[in-house]
Amino acid sequence: MAAIESVMHEGRVFEPAASIVETAAVSGMPAYHALVAEAERDYEGFWGRLARTALDWQTPFTKVLDESRAPFYTWFEDGRLNASYNCLDRHVENGLGEKAALIFEADDGTVTRVSYRDLLARVSRLANALKARGVKTGDRVVIYMPMSVEGVVAMQACARIGATHSVVFGGFSSKSLNERIVDAGAVAVITADEQMRGGRALPLKSIVDEALAAGGTETVTSVIVYRRTGGDVHWDAARDLWLHELVATQSDVCAPEWVGAEHPLFILYTSGSTGKPKGVQHSTGGYLLWAQQTMQWTFDIKSEDVFWCTADIGWITGHTYICYGPTAAGATQVIFEGVPTYPDAGRFWKMIEQHRVTVFYTAPTAIRSLIKAADANPEVHPRRYDLSSLRVIGTVGEPINPAAWMWYHDEVGGGRCPIVDTFWQTETGGHVISPLPGATPLVPGSCTLPLPGILAAVVDETGQEVPNGQGGILVIKRPWPAMLRTVWRDPERFRKSYFPEELGGTLYLAGDGAVRDATTGNFTIMGRIDDVLNISGHRMGTMEIESALVSHPLVAEAAVVGRPDDTTGEAIVAFVVLKRTRPTGDEGRAIANELRAWVAKQIGPIAKPRDLRFGDNLPKTRSGKIMRRLLRGLAKGETAPQDTSTLENPAILEQLGEAL
Ligand code: WT7
Repeated sequence: MAAIESVMHEGRVFEPAASIVETAAVSGMPAYHALVAEAERDYEGFWGRLARTALDWQTPFTKVLDESRAPFYTWFEDGRLNASYNCLDRHVENGLGEKAALIFEADDGTVTRVSYRDLLARVSRLANALKARGVKTGDRVVIYMPMSVEGVVAMQACARIGATHSVVFGGFSSKSLNERIVDAGAVAVITADEQMRGGRALPLKSIVDEALAAGGTETVTSVIVYRRTGGDVHWDAARDLWLHELVATQSDVCAPEWVGAEHPLFILYTSGSTGKPKGVQHSTGGYLLWAQQTMQWTFDIKSEDVFWCTADIGWITGHTYICYGPTAAGATQVIFEGVPTYPDAGRFWKMIEQHRVTVFYTAPTAIRSLIKAADANPEVHPRRYDLSSLRVIGTVGEPINPAAWMWYHDEVGGGRCPIVDTFWQTETGGHVISPLPGATPLVPGSCTLPLPGILAAVVDETGQEVPNGQGGILVIKRPWPAMLRTVWRDPERFRKSYFPEELGGTLYLAGDGAVRDATTGNFTIMGRIDDVLNISGHRMGTMEIESALVSHPLVAEAAVVGRPDDTTGEAIVAFVVLKRTRPTGDEGRAIANELRAWVAKQIGPIAKPRDLRFGDNLPKTRSGKIMRRLLRGLAKGETAPQDTSTLENPAILEQLGEAL
């Protein structure tokens, strides 16, 4: 709560410098207000104009928005286009063939440049190879790849032939990968032998092997393997293919498959408040429009910019602001294989200096850990590097505390770069609330104002708007082109999760709490209101971790909550009841370590509980409901819990409060 308080009383305001306002795509607040007014006056006309301007359509659309099957909205439905054509071909056709599309820096510092022409050729070869393997429009392809040129090529190749990709982050376990392959009904998996992170080789192919051995994956007939390290891999000749061999014989010309605007470009699994991750399904036209438009509005991207988003393609940020947005905008971007702390914590600053990065986009968690590192070692302080190329800097994934914001602003941005604190979600496709660098006055810790066309509001539990200054539930009142279309194979879950009846059934529920400032209208996000945790900007469902824990033979019951953490935003704390007597001391620590490793194996290392406590039971109400509020207090180290009068078994709190 302390962090939220300090945000709410934040008084500092940073107006954009005149030099930035002058050249910005949205120049000054009147220009922002004009766009907002245009959307209010003629919502469909506004979106139609943007879609016609930003994208190249093979067949123009005649209708912008269809609300007849709400909340299953469709946009630009009779228009036809291809995402890969819009990201690659049209730039080559416009004379940008030799422009660098990707500047790839490997973990060991090796740099590879790929021009738009090269990228198109590589995408086309893989697209042809996929077709040769029988992959068709509408088929699903799972991509389990490291950050690499090949990862982007794989996504674009799917888009080129109209195959729907589902990228699974390389840190997820074989079990998570298996569940996603099964749910998506994938026909192919594209992976690598291994990935390099911080000087270490980590397996990928062997995890795919395990995932496919676990069953339910009979749909998969091809596993295409990019050779990254040359490490040993098991080979199944019936199904495994080396990527370099497969593309060697393919033509570098592949006609794009024109698809309807609503054609699913990708599915991306994300955590919800129940155990099973949701397959968030995105469209082609509406999604791509927003990926490109927000590059222009939020990042003010210009033809001479060098953009760098430090995310991984396994997350939505890597989809929208690596694979699709920068390429649709025809920009040059840096992509990075490694980690921010290898070979030392000056890596980001060194790369910005070396590649003359102008627009830099990272997560608050990375900023906070680099602040700590710079405090401990002046050698890796951003001041030691020439960061004068930077023009706009951004953050995403979680609230940024004002102290970290100020450091980012002063030490990284040199006091001259606007910070765009971009609020959005896997489901929103692209930014929904964010400053515009040449217009919006910045307030540290606030994501400021909705982008033009996004009708964000704060409501109470009945869906009524609350007055500014009062906290409530963040919603979006009208559909927008980049919103998710459905939950893959689960339309009912889509409706229930995002358009709940309690709010009237027409408001998009983001799942976050928010408050609007009474004078500026600025939004401040107050964190998730559901059972979703945010660990280093990554979403984790408490139920997912709980089900992983109870699947261990020793565990009878488990409850997972978040605890505020200085670096990772939130840390996972698990309260566990074993089927045997409550362990303490060394034995307790040993079992706790075993359970942590178990969760890592079940879901992935990001889901490992930081802290584990054992009790003979969990605190429950007389009706048997676990009192998470009390557990959150215990996780924070509160000794005198709040009201425990409804608690069936108050004595249990003492046990659970004990650290191991
Ligand atoms: C959740 C979405 C969107 C890409 C990365 C995360 C939190 C995201 C911000 C921000 C405060 C933020 C919200 C949101 N979040 N950006 N700028 N300020 N909170 O995507 O995994 O779908 O998570 O991340 O809680 O609901 P995601």
